Amino acid sequence: MTGEVIYEIKNASKRYGSVIALDGASLKIHAGEVVGLVGDNGAGKSTLVKVLSGAHQPDGGQMFLEGKEVSWESPRQALEAGVETLYQDSGLAPHLTVSQNVFLGREITVKGILGKLGFLSKKKMEHEAHRDLEAVGIAVPASNRAVSQLSGGQRQAVAIGRAVAWAKKVIILDEPTNHLGARQAGEVLNIIRNAKAKGLGVIFISHTLPHVLEVTDRIVVLRLGRIVKDAPTSEFNGDTLIGTITGTIQTIKVEGD
Ligand SMILES: Nc1ncnc2c1ncn2[C@@H]1O[C@H](COP(=O)(O)OP(=O)(O)O)[C@@H](O)[C@H]1O
Ligand SMILES: [Mg+2]
Repeated sequence: MTGEVIYEIKNASKRYGSVIALDGASLKIHAGEVVGLVGDNGAGKSTLVKVLSGAHQPDGGQMFLEGKEVSWESPRQALEAGVETLYQDSGLAPHLTVSQNVFLGREITVKGILGKLGFLSKKKMEHEAHRDLEAVGIAVPASNRAVSQLSGGQRQAVAIGRAVAWAKKVIILDEPTNHLGARQAGEVLNIIRNAKAKGLGVIFISHTLPHVLEVTDRIVVLRLGRIVKDAPTSEFNGDTLIGTITGTIQTIKVEGD
């Protein structure tokens, strides 16, 4: 079951020089819904993510968070409003510990003796990082370990766990299962299910179509910057999904309402 529309983008366009990366894309995400965003390389998926997350400004279009029109001047603004994003190839800071990464940019400060001058509460961060990661289904060996000592899969688990733990309304995951083994990818899919159960709206981007078919409620297909199909996952199978992505299956243009 999914709830109200939590995030919406209407008629978004974005050009990079002569390249039209987004051409009138419209999309709605409901609370407690996992939306799969798929399309060939260059279709505009990452551009749409960057617009939704405040990393890039669109040339045209509107965005609404819980019905209220929003525009982001920076990713931080989107983040503070509850839109959390795990970018494709986003890295953790390898020299920092797990808990420092979880809290990177939003470190907990406790009031020092001088009142105003806070300092980082290391113990509290370690404890909370561990608790937050566990709450979204991630078993991390020790939150005081440097990230450089973790395996690729563990690092990705920390990155996605960090995003899910902090997300208040929407979480956008751009190819989070890339380069992961089957078991680790399965864990990421479980984290996505936990995020959904938390009532978050989830956008999941992946080229691994079985994962998309397994974990999403709805699939949106982008081709050359346009959304060519937006339908419940139950209406697709592996073959029709591939056909829709590559264009061998005809689609009607989806109008933004
Ligand atoms: N920063 C950029 N500068 C110039 N062109 C870009 C930039 N980012 C993306 N593009 C172009 O925009 C189109 C959409 O890219 P992208 O959103 O990354 O697609 P996807 O994530 O679906 O592979 C592509 O043609 C790509 O080359
Ligand atoms: Mg991309």
